[in-house]
Amino acid sequence: MSRRAVLGWVGAGALVVVGGTLVRAQRQGLLDPRTGPAYTAWQPTHRTGAEAVVAAAVLAASPHNLQNWWFRPTTAADGSVTLDVHDDTSRSLGVVDAHRREAHLGIGAAVANAEVAAPALGFDTRLTVRPAADDETLLARLVLTPRTPAEPDALTQAIPHRHSDRGAYPPEEPSADLLDRLRATALAGTTGVDLVWITASDQRRRLGAILVDAATALTADHQMSVDNAELIRYDHQQVERYGDGLTIDAQALSPFLEVAAQLLPATSRTQGDKSWVRSTRDVHTATARAYGLVVGDRSDSATRVHAGRALQRLHLALVAEGWAMQHMNQAVEMAERDATLGTADRFDGPLTQLAGGQVIAALRMGRPSGRAVASPRRPLADVLR
Ligand SMILES: Cc1cc2nc3c(=O)[nH]c(=O)nc-3n(C[C@H](O)[C@H](O)[C@H](O)COP(=O)(O)O)c2cc1C
Repeated sequence: MSRRAVLGWVGAGALVVVGGTLVRAQRQGLLDPRTGPAYTAWQPTHRTGAEAVVAAAVLAASPHNLQNWWFRPTTAADGSVTLDVHDDTSRSLGVVDAHRREAHLGIGAAVANAEVAAPALGFDTRLTVRPAADDETLLARLVLTPRTPAEPDALTQAIPHRHSDRGAYPPEEPSADLLDRLRATALAGTTGVDLVWITASDQRRRLGAILVDAATALTADHQMSVDNAELIRYDHQQVERYGDGLTIDAQALSPFLEVAAQLLPATSRTQGDKSWVRSTRDVHTATARAYGLVVGDRSDSATRVHAGRALQRLHLALVAEGWAMQHMNQAVEMAERDATLGTADRFDGPLTQLAGGQVIAALRMGRPSGRAVASPRRPLADVLR
């Protein structure tokens, strides 16, 4: 074969490879990330009334972006609306959240967004947590009473700008003053929970090591690893189809890893596990400028709802003040896993000792990495019943 013919075949082969990669890049959403119906929830809305309150609620954080909520608004003759907030138990993280602690925290987060957004949408709110003892899925009832719309306050304005930030936080530590203020805002109106800041460097190192060990232990537990990977969405088509889950761009991976994860055919679970443990060690814990531990009775669903409200209010307050946050729950997940399996406790004791009480949830904070992005949301029609 002539040299020219060989070059022709090589060129054609390269074209096929590049073309295939581009087609995959398009499918994976690399060329147009975060566009499409799964992201419209973050755009300004023309909705009004209770529907607008629910539209704010669904922008809240939820574990693995599970969005295990559904809402039933009932309007009374006087214009007030009773908004029931349910846990959708058909949506689950499997053994990662066997007792629905995180699912209930997510419901609390949605309730907090609804409460924060309501005054500017023309409603006062009255909240009852677990209003019906015989209905375990009805976690909250929010009565919305018409009022003159208020000016949106700082927390309200933060709602569409709050995203989980899993990148490297710059080396600026928060002042004690700021942490006090944030704690007061987070806990306002909650019962049964407290927020403990971990700021001393030796304590931060200890908690960091616990979180890395927990991530390692979680990935070594086959069923935990499988269920943990269930909601990772490698493909933009999946994101648009389901409108939930953890997208690759929200993981704030290094640019090379992000491109590799999105271009290669779905990365293997073990590769993903390794990359997560590495990020936990080298990015998340290495750049945590303070940790927050939310303390309360982990087994009580009402307390979990209050804890979720506190977490969401905290995140909004952080964003309003120019700071960032990432939930970090692997140590609590593994504490529950050890208890469920009846194996020796590895994480609960050390966490309790650090926090001075039972830990329901953990997080890190710092200045924004600049890598936080919006995550998908399910259509309102799917969560309004
Ligand atoms: C109860 C709860 C637990 C969470 N645990 C973690 C976690 O361990 N690690 C993490 O990176 N994000 C965690 N998140 C954050 C969610 O993954 C995130 O809220 C979701 O993907 C939606 O993204 P957004 O917060 O940017 O809107 C948690 C959120 C909640 C409410």
